[in-house]
Amino acid sequence: MLPTDTRLTIPPLAGLCDFEAAQRPGLSVEECVAWHKRNHYVLRRLFELLTARITAEPQYELKTAFSYHAYLCAEHVTALRTRVSEMREPPLGLEEIPHPALQLLCDEVLCAPTTPTLLIGVYDVLIPELIASFEAYLATTNPLVDAPSVRVARFALLELRDMAEFGRIALVADASRIRPIDAGRVGHDLTAWRTLLSNCLLAAGGLSGRQSQQSIELKPMFSAKPFEYDPVPKRDARFHDSYNAGVNPEAFLYDERFAPQDKVLMLFYKRLREIDVPEMMASIIHQTPGKPWKFYRDMSRQLWDEARHAMLGEVGFVSQGLDWSKIPINFTWSLNLNTQLTPQERHAVLFFIEQGLMPRNGKRFEWEVAQASGVPLATLFQDFDWADEVLHSQIGREWYVPDFTNLIAALDYGDRCWSKVMSHWRRYLEQGQTQHHNWWPELYTTACTIRGTTPDPTTLEFKTTYEEVRADLKAIEGDVES
Ligand SMILES: [Fe+2]
Ligand SMILES: [Fe+2]
Repeated sequence: MLPTDTRLTIPPLAGLCDFEAAQRPGLSVEECVAWHKRNHYVLRRLFELLTARITAEPQYELKTAFSYHAYLCAEHVTALRTRVSEMREPPLGLEEIPHPALQLLCDEVLCAPTTPTLLIGVYDVLIPELIASFEAYLATTNPLVDAPSVRVARFALLELRDMAEFGRIALVADASRIRPIDAGRVGHDLTAWRTLLSNCLLAAGGLSGRQSQQSIELKPMFSAKPFEYDPVPKRDARFHDSYNAGVNPEAFLYDERFAPQDKVLMLFYKRLREIDVPEMMASIIHQTPGKPWKFYRDMSRQLWDEARHAMLGEVGFVSQGLDWSKIPINFTWSLNLNTQLTPQERHAVLFFIEQGLMPRNGKRFEWEVAQASGVPLATLFQDFDWADEVLHSQIGREWYVPDFTNLIAALDYGDRCWSKVMSHWRRYLEQGQTQHHNWWPELYTTACTIRGTTPDPTTLEFKTTYEEVRADLKAIEGDVES
């Protein structure tokens, strides 16, 4: 039997709240749902607009952060949709626009004409407003009756605050660039734009819709011209010679003459090069409207994984004491897919590469190479890269394969689509866009110097390019790993 004073030491009400908060008048189910839908709408728009800006964002750190933050938004959208579905019978009305002023607010941020203005819209307006809305929700709702919503809001706040902190630092880093860019190139008054965003919120009764809705005339500025997605990938100054396909890492990896420790360098390169996958997947997500929500959530997860794979490569280079910016990181895969194929054809190529390369160029092989190299970090990275790939295969089977009669037909189509994309290896050379410089000997020599070893002459001589073989070593153009 418990001592009689136990109730004085064990928190009541399962630790949710005290008796005072549990008697709070709170919100009705209808009010909760209405508020959730507002947060849901802005989070979904944030997911969409961050995704839409990944491809053409040059700054690598922002490209990867947009990939991450878009995915986090997608997860919170999912949680809110689930919660609304627990509280109401269908139709749930989750695709409706809660207020036209909220739509304009999000459109304005989507159409922000420069990176600095986009950062302001996302990290200085939308995310802080979402944080304030979730905080107010927690302070208003009854924490006992609405405990499931409280949980959703607390998780959302955890990650929204992380995003806000990232944005705060990014904005400081960008502050010196804001004024000249916006005043000069855009020709718009940033103060007037901020006022417009504030007015949108006032007209909507705040993001939550619980304040009085003010009657203000709202005149679109940046969104006066509809958003146009830019499918051409952009990179920052650390990326150079982006058409260079002068080194074929797959040919090196599968050549038994070479040592696993040296192959690790190629593995790290292959991972870093994967930054072209978010650039391409963003185009599929943006240009494939009307799918069930789970499609976007799943694709966003995969996109984020691919951005993370690029960062694994980046860390790999750092761990070896090597400067990755000295090596050309090719972008012709995302460039060609985004500008030559339909969204479904791009998805086909992605699925084909992820599935079709499995037997020979598979993740198991890469993991085994990493293990044999005696480089623990490479083993760890390849272990998780492989696990992510299994998930991506499931995502492909759920959202791409059902368009075909069977798996073989789906793979064949992907193979054909990949062949259809011209890599223009020779044309890029003739037009002077690249010399397809063989960067391998320099990288290898530098790595040997750092390790204190002597370069192996055969390894040093490696010079297989992508001119005649693609990444699965078939005789056709193409040069990517996902
Ligand atoms: Fe990947
Ligand atoms: Fe993948």
